[in-house]
Amino acid sequence: MIALALVEPRPPAQTATHRLQPGDASVIARGERVYRTHCAACHGARLEGQPNWRERGPDGRLPAPPHDASGHTWHHPDEMLFKLTKYGLAKVANMKDYASAMPVYEGVLSDEEIVAVLSWIKAQWPADVRERHDQMNRQARP
Ligand code: HEC
Repeated sequence: MIALALVEPRPPAQTATHRLQPGDASVIARGERVYRTHCAACHGARLEGQPNWRERGPDGRLPAPPHDASGHTWHHPDEMLFKLTKYGLAKVANMKDYASAMPVYEGVLSDEEIVAVLSWIKAQWPADVRERHDQMNRQARP
């Protein structure tokens, strides 16, 4: 994926922050249901993503990346993951013509469902990756 580094540093101070809750059993149970229904078809039942996910297809679009430790989902802080899922890549990266196969979930999933599914994804990462992600969140927050 491209250009996200440009917008990564921190969300505008006035926006609400959405913290993932990978340690909350009821949140991740809900998140798993959301994942199976809305995300698994592309990102894989085991978070493995689609084959050759780093290479654009003939339509110029990237395949779905894995959400496990081999992908770069964990390179983005909570708020960035929330925005990518809710508003889509084009909007978050501020490139309105960017063609992405990733759907926009605004109006489809509630904010709580988005936090839940991302929390479940995080709960699947190995402890050291979760710890690095926690560290990144601490740096990203004002
Ligand atoms: C129709 C296929 C499809 C579905 C369904 C889908 N995604 Fe995606 N997703 C993609 C693709 C393709 C990308 C990479 C897009 C790009 O870079 O252009 C992506 C990228 C992402 C990213 C950015 C990952 C990164 O490493 O930068 C996140 C976060 C994400 N998806 C979350 C979700 C969640 C959560 C769901 C379910 C609620 C979901 N996606 C459902 C196709 C899909």
